Amino acid sequence: MCGIVGYVGARECTEVLLNSLSKLEYRGYDSAGIAVFEDGEIRTRKSKGKIQDLVSKMETEGRITGHCGIGHTRWATHGEPSDVNSHPHGNANVTIVHNGIIENYKKIKEFLTRKGYVFESETDTETVAKLLDCFYEGNPMQTIQRVLDEIEGSYALGIMFRDYPGRIYAVRKDSPLIVAVGENEAFIASDVPAILKYTKNYYLLEQDEIAVLDNGRVEFFDDHGAPKKKQMLVADFDEEAAKKGNYPHYMIKEIHDQPVSIKTTVTPRIVNGMPNLEECGMTYERLKNYKNIFVVACGTAMHAGLVGKYVIEKLARVSVTVDVASEFRYRDPILSKDDLVILVSQSGETADTLEAMRLAKRNGTDTLAIVNVKGSSIARDADMVIYTHAGPEISVASTKAYMVQLSVFYLIAFSLAYANGRITEEECRHLVEQLTQVPDQIEEILKTPENCQYVASQLVNADNLLYIGRGLDYALSMEGSLKLKEISYIHSESYAAGELKHGTISLVTEEMPVIAVATQRDLFEKTISNVKEVKSRGAYVVLVTHEGQEVDKEAADCIITVPSIDDLLMPMTAVVPLQLIAYYTSVLRGNDVDKPRNLAKSVTVE
Ligand code: G6P
Repeated sequence: MCGIVGYVGARECTEVLLNSLSKLEYRGYDSAGIAVFEDGEIRTRKSKGKIQDLVSKMETEGRITGHCGIGHTRWATHGEPSDVNSHPHGNANVTIVHNGIIENYKKIKEFLTRKGYVFESETDTETVAKLLDCFYEGNPMQTIQRVLDEIEGSYALGIMFRDYPGRIYAVRKDSPLIVAVGENEAFIASDVPAILKYTKNYYLLEQDEIAVLDNGRVEFFDDHGAPKKKQMLVADFDEEAAKKGNYPHYMIKEIHDQPVSIKTTVTPRIVNGMPNLEECGMTYERLKNYKNIFVVACGTAMHAGLVGKYVIEKLARVSVTVDVASEFRYRDPILSKDDLVILVSQSGETADTLEAMRLAKRNGTDTLAIVNVKGSSIARDADMVIYTHAGPEISVASTKAYMVQLSVFYLIAFSLAYANGRITEEECRHLVEQLTQVPDQIEEILKTPENCQYVASQLVNADNLLYIGRGLDYALSMEGSLKLKEISYIHSESYAAGELKHGTISLVTEEMPVIAVATQRDLFEKTISNVKEVKSRGAYVVLVTHEGQEVDKEAADCIITVPSIDDLLMPMTAVVPLQLIAYYTSVLRGNDVDKPRNLAKSVTVE
């Protein structure tokens, strides 16, 4: 989704803006632009395409330079990706960058058109820029407050007024924005990696708070214009952590980060060999009182919830319902005060997940967030938070965030099963001990990627693909399938292996490779029967199972094994080859692995 940056200080600001924007590329975008105070005027350059296209355009049109400016990467919502729809928007008097959606922009546009304003772009953002211009009578703060009273929807805004060179105003509602401070310099940004090259100190802007960055100083005001004191935060990772290092792509780096991410997430939550979530407010006593659990999330985070469902239900015998957030919100879910709603989100900013949480809170239901980004909206507003400590995840295709979300679900499941007496202390300790072995097992898998590279070479020309599995393997195969389709652009579906014969098997031919996941011992033979069904219809079959499993060599064209562990924990290791297969297939197809087309890392619109 859109990325916002802004800079005020002694540095050459175009350089800073371009660098900071490049650190937000992972969010997904289709155009870029900057506006800079140059010789007392606001000058703008913008271009469809990548930041490099903007740089090339500046070579032709002339580079703008100064010490105060705002920048933007746009992910098109209202209007196609084009130069004219790109941000910044505005005129010589006021110029803005915006992330979010102004829901009542048509009404505002009509109002402004009656006043004689002419619109160039199809964007909702241009209406805000023109409304600011329309209301402006010399006092920026009052103008912004008046505009905030008029606009509906979500926004993070960076605003510059021609009359106030060297000053940026920033405000947000339901879209993320941070304000960072260095020595005599200040920044705004959609996310922390954008500022790490310059400083680690930042403030989280709250709903409808207004920040004023003036010649390197920062002041905060509430929506009535009263000054506010805020607590400064310090980023807990540095620029290196948000870099690729020697890896060719962020995705493969993040796959390799997984063992460390699991350790950092799990270790502090194990006390004397037992799971302990008390620092997050989740005591055994509290956990065992919930009647039903709902897991609500989007994309990969939802898939982590599906694994969580199997594990919690199996171990703790508490009913778990998993919903995609955009559906949960509109299906009028039956929630009670005895239930728990778990929101899972890497970014903590996903609009649908955030709204689902608000719905749960309105119903008086407890909310627990499993979130990776510190201080994000979901983390701040949930009743309880368990942070996953994956560090920054830059690749759009989520890998290490999924892995640590799984880790947290295991901790919840073990705690709950122990709390309600479904497992003994000894059994609980054993499961915890198994969980702590996972990082080493993943290290082992990563030492020999060759089999996954080989599978990728077999899949590279496929148009369609099926993933099949039963039980936990089915939940896992959904994630495998999503990973492949989002970065390789090969159409792929995940199917419950036993359901295949009720329709979908009609698609199976030699043109339809099948990846079968069979790690659950009690279901192995049943899944193998389904494997035989597809193999006998000509499909190229890859089987993922655990070491030590007796397999008829003829059953599949390629067998990938991962180290054996308790069946319940197998998704944590078995997902790794699925991630690698997706990664290598994308590489072989020459795709932009980390920034797949049309996708955004953080989806802050509904
Ligand atoms: C986007 C990303 C996915 C991610 C989903 C949920 O669609 O491309 O990788 O799983 O959002 O994001 P969240 O930040 O809430 O986990």
